[in-house]
Amino acid sequence: MSSTITVKDKKFAVSIPAKEIQSTIDRMGAEINRDLEGKDPLFISVLNGAFIFAADLMRRITIPCQISFIKFASYHGGLDSTGKVTDLIGLQENIEGRTVVIVEDIVDTGRSMVHLLEALNAGHPKEILIAPLLMKPDKLEVDLKLDYIGLRIPNDFILGYGLDYDGYGRNLKDIYTLVEE
Ligand code: IMP
Ligand code: MG
Repeated sequence: MSSTITVKDKKFAVSIPAKEIQSTIDRMGAEINRDLEGKDPLFISVLNGAFIFAADLMRRITIPCQISFIKFASYHGGLDSTGKVTDLIGLQENIEGRTVVIVEDIVDTGRSMVHLLEALNAGHPKEILIAPLLMKPDKLEVDLKLDYIGLRIPNDFILGYGLDYDGYGRNLKDIYTLVEE
């Protein structure tokens, strides 16, 4: 099948075509424009994974807003190789009293998001809303209120559209799922 690709040592097949990703973001953008009108939101996007999603989502936002980028010190979504959450870097803005919207690629166990919420809450924002493009409902290990969910997906490992396998695959337009052999 032409839609199967090999990234490093693993095979992947398209599971969410670019068109579906884009229509999902159309919907999310419309919801955010409707809900946050007059709130002067600050969008905070989590690098690296969310960079493409953030770029696409932000171009749907028609209300006045700002965007900033942050990163966890360890590359994998805020968890180091032992599953420990690492430090947050890059936030320059004063978020006191602001409506903050976290723009994330995916919420998996939810542990990185909990850590991020703790770190951001220390800056006393008015409210924090969470907008992940994807979530894996069966993997969630923590109590999290997700405000704008793009798509709910199965537990399988995915890549593309910003998401990576060992740093590769972020540039793919579609989202792919690991094919078990
Ligand atoms: P959590 O702390 O378990 O929710 O981890 C979330 C982070 O892990 C995301 O921000 C991603 O960077 C990464 N991640 C989770 N699932 C996948 C996947 O299926 N493919 C690629 N990266 C993933
Ligand atoms: Mg991430």
